[in-house]
Amino acid sequence: MPKKTIKRSWAEPFKIKVVEPIKMTTRAYREKAAKEAGYNTFLLKSEDVYIDLLTDSGTNAMSDYQWAGMMLGDEAYAGSKNFYYLWDNIKKYYGMPYFVPTHQGRAAEHMVSKILIKPNNVVPGNMYFTTTREHIELAGGKFVDVIIDQAHNPQNTHPFKGNININKLEDLIKKVGAKNIPYVFMAGPVNMAGGQPFSMKNLKEVSALLKKHGIKLWFDATRAVENAYYIKLREKGYEKKSIEQILKEICSHFDGLWVSAKKDLMVNIGGIFATRDKRVYEEARNMVVVYEGLHTYGGLAGRDMEAMARGMEEMVQFDNIKARIGQVEYCGKQLEKYNIPLVYPFGGHAIFLDAKKFLPHLKQDVFPAQTLAAEIFIDSGVRGMERGIVSAGRDPNTGKHRYPKLELVRLTFPRRVYTQAHIDVTVESIAQVYEDRKKIKGLKMVYEPKHLRFFQARFKKIS
Ligand code: F0G
Repeated sequence: MPKKTIKRSWAEPFKIKVVEPIKMTTRAYREKAAKEAGYNTFLLKSEDVYIDLLTDSGTNAMSDYQWAGMMLGDEAYAGSKNFYYLWDNIKKYYGMPYFVPTHQGRAAEHMVSKILIKPNNVVPGNMYFTTTREHIELAGGKFVDVIIDQAHNPQNTHPFKGNININKLEDLIKKVGAKNIPYVFMAGPVNMAGGQPFSMKNLKEVSALLKKHGIKLWFDATRAVENAYYIKLREKGYEKKSIEQILKEICSHFDGLWVSAKKDLMVNIGGIFATRDKRVYEEARNMVVVYEGLHTYGGLAGRDMEAMARGMEEMVQFDNIKARIGQVEYCGKQLEKYNIPLVYPFGGHAIFLDAKKFLPHLKQDVFPAQTLAAEIFIDSGVRGMERGIVSAGRDPNTGKHRYPKLELVRLTFPRRVYTQAHIDVTVESIAQVYEDRKKIKGLKMVYEPKHLRFFQARFKKIS
């Protein structure tokens, strides 16, 4: 008899050492909590949340190696040894010679924008991210989306939906002139498109085009190891390369990068500004003193920098990233069993529910994704996040809502935090809300803050 080879499941390359109890609540309790939070999942008390899939940002479980490093914090005001260790690792893994720490990603975005953008400049990128675009606009620039069209279609299964459309970019350069484009940015993977990666081939083409025009290329490397993982899986010639090698190769095409360390690096706080441009570095090194703190701590404690440096060593380990993406995929496949409308391909950090298809009877003006996120919380205490019309905000020139094609709820997975049974409960709750979807009516916005409104806006149920 020939022996059969049984396929092995993916599993986490770690076990649980410390646990944090979570509160179990009733539907009536959650209905009250949701109302008090103005039906905005950002305004809920974390204590009232059962399974928290709001974000993978700063919500990760650190390893014992990282926690041990926290005890080695050198809390000197200037010249902390943790800073130098972190800097060495930035050279090693991202290949950038110059580095300034920041307290989180948007502080680095602030500096990049302030240093490079002049009023009326145009900054093209592969789809917007909320904080990235806000800083571009605050610096007087205008963001232009040059991502491939497939990225705006949730059903399209292009393997690299984070790619830039070279023709769009070239046309834009011709139209506004290279001298009015201080830099182009690429995020990898693209958060707002559903966690979609770019390919190395596309990156090389973008880089070659920009070199021809003397335009800089910057990298939002917040979840770069996920992009590297997809290149390894999906792009010819990279099957045998390590995540570390692919990450280094990606970074070699960029003039600089920013990172929200709260993601890939598996820490609770931290950010990175890194570049190979000495002049830009010197400006950032000086600017950081005004906004964050001295250039050897940038708003962080020594122990935070140590945890970042150690997290960086763990983030490039293949089994770690494989288990992370394996868990996200598992959730997606379970949801498919209930025919839940999703964004394809599944993203690295999150599963995105297509709220337009989930609640087809709701117009975008009554905030379908915002409504759906609130309904899921009320059903089970699972917290997701709106990524649709509320997140897209208003056009600064017309003052009107932007109507994005993608109206999504994001279920984002903190690294090394939840078990497969947590995922099962999440899926069952979403399936229940889908069963009951016809009863759902939508929301009315009753308070709208000026900047990044999705964080603090309040809503009332339409009766
Ligand atoms: N760039 C990307 C791609 C991000 O996802 C984020 C944050 C930032 C920049 C800003 O970094 O939060 O450290 O200031 N994303 C979080 C999220 C908030 O939930 O997706 P930050």
